[in-house]
Amino acid sequence: MKETILHGNIISADEYGKITIYESGYIVAIDGHITFIGKVLPRECQAVSVDDYGDALIMQSLADMHLHAPQYPMLGMGMDLPLLEWLNTYTFPTESHFKDNDFARKTYHQFAHELVENGTTKVCMFSSLHREATLILMEELEKAGLVGYVGKVNMDRNGSPDLQETTQESITETIKWVKECHFEHIKPIITPRFTPSCTDELMQALGQIAQEYHLPIQSHLSENLSELAWVKALHPDCEQYWQTYQKYGLFNSRTLMAHCVWSDEKERQALKDSGVWVVHCASSNENLISGYAPVHKMREEGLKVVLGSDIAGGDHLSMFDNIAATIRASKARRIIDRWKTDFLTVSEAFYLATSAPNEFFNEKPGFALGNKLHALVIDDSELIAATKMTIEERFERCVYRRQKNAIKAVYSEGNLIFNRK
Ligand code: GUN
Ligand code: FE
Repeated sequence: MKETILHGNIISADEYGKITIYESGYIVAIDGHITFIGKVLPRECQAVSVDDYGDALIMQSLADMHLHAPQYPMLGMGMDLPLLEWLNTYTFPTESHFKDNDFARKTYHQFAHELVENGTTKVCMFSSLHREATLILMEELEKAGLVGYVGKVNMDRNGSPDLQETTQESITETIKWVKECHFEHIKPIITPRFTPSCTDELMQALGQIAQEYHLPIQSHLSENLSELAWVKALHPDCEQYWQTYQKYGLFNSRTLMAHCVWSDEKERQALKDSGVWVVHCASSNENLISGYAPVHKMREEGLKVVLGSDIAGGDHLSMFDNIAATIRASKARRIIDRWKTDFLTVSEAFYLATSAPNEFFNEKPGFALGNKLHALVIDDSELIAATKMTIEERFERCVYRRQKNAIKAVYSEGNLIFNRK
């Protein structure tokens, strides 16, 4: 039995828009699962050594529910083109390098550690189309202590000479890859890149594979207007974009769809009715000039919304950056909507990066009893304050300031996976 006890100022996003604070509180986890949260340590725990973080803040670690690992080398570059031109000019050439396993190993090792240092412990991630590099990525994430899903990307049309598979290759390699996945914490997810990258035959096979192996699904939906027009031309049989996935059994309660910037009322209703997860990628939507997704409205309509950095369309790996970007984008959206829709608050956006994804991982919001202990520790003692600040104010400042090296420790499933000396 492994017991973990943390002490500090604990912040838990138990409800949307509201944080619960345990000032100078304790969290106890046994074999990775939270068994206690509160201000007085239970007597039976008093003999166990405590990871005491004093006046620091302890909060849930972050979930990045949409990002592209093979775009890590181009992070912060090539932001001068809209989506489809950006894919052809920068993205496909970068991803093609992952046919080289040594390059993949070196890149993904660094990438996994940078995620952890930024407090991200849960991911749903795209790899490239390369089966071997995908297994390397999964291994590096697993070794770094992350949990979640990684997908070998499928693309059998409209790629580049260096980045495309035949339909048969794509199917065979996917099945082989699924059978080769043997990781405890990093699991496979079926990943058609997006409709323009996949023929109907491939989509059909992917739907069957997802069903046969009980796998979740991730893709892109209604990100950009040119993309929408292209999908319409490719699929005259479908009235709307979402139907190009639904037709093949790829649109259900275990599906994550990134962006949904241009999903109209009808498409949003379909997302809701099918229980599909919307992954909002505010930084990327702005960088690639895709648009401002109506996130507040989606939440009000009852859609399931989580956040993604979408690197390298997004320019920051840190989910704190992406939370701040989400709030700003929601304010831009409020302006576009002529002040008729509301913006997201700090605690609402934090919830979307922590507690909302818990449901995808079959857990309850916040540091709920029974959840696995995923936490980060922030030391903000170097920041100047004019008056004594409340824990809530310090929490807000941490989200917005993202001061360098503030993350002191990160826990995943109760294990300390990062400790800044
Ligand atoms: N649509 C298809 N592929 C991609 C990608 O790599 N990034 C983004 N943002 N959108 C996509
Ligand atoms: Fe993406």
